[in-house]
Amino acid sequence: MRRLALALCLLPTTALAAAPDGRQIFLHGNTNGALPCAACHGQNAEGNSATGAPKLAGLPATAIETYLALFASGQGGNATMQFIAQALSKPETLAVAAYLSSLPTTNSPASSTN
Ligand code: HEC
Repeated sequence: MRRLALALCLLPTTALAAAPDGRQIFLHGNTNGALPCAACHGQNAEGNSATGAPKLAGLPATAIETYLALFASGQGGNATMQFIAQALSKPETLAVAAYLSSLPTTNSPASSTN
C-alpha cells in the first residue's frame, strides 16, 4: 500500500480520474491536452498583459467554473480557452477553480516578497 502511494507520487502528471490536483493542473496542464494555465495567466495567476490573460487569483470558484463552462460550450473566450475548457473534466474544472480561488490576490503588500 505504501509502495503504491509512493509510485503515485512519482507520476509526473496527474493522470488519475479521481481527486485531481488543481495546483498540478494550473502549473502543468492535464494529459488531455489542457495547457498549463500558469503559462498564460502567470505563475501566481496574477494575469499577464503580454498574453492578454486576465488575473485569476482570488476569483470566486463559482465564477471560474462559470467562465470555464461557458468557454467549453463555445460561448465567450478565445479559441484557446475554449479548447482548454473542453479538455478539462468536470472534477478537474472544480479542482482548478478551487485552487485559483484559494490563491492570494496579488499586488497585496503581504505577497510582494519576490
Ligand atoms: C494559451 C494561453 C492560455 C492558457 C494556457 C490558459 N488561458 Fe485562460 N485565458 C487566456 C486568455 C487570453 C483569456 C482571455 C480570453 C478572452 O477574454 O477572450 C483567458 C481567460 C480565462 C478566464 C476568464 C477570466 C476572466 O476574468 O475573463 C478563465 C476563468 C481562465 N482563462 C481560466 C484558465 C484556466 C483554468 C487555465 C488552465 C487550465 C487557463 N485559463 C489556461 C489565455 C490562456
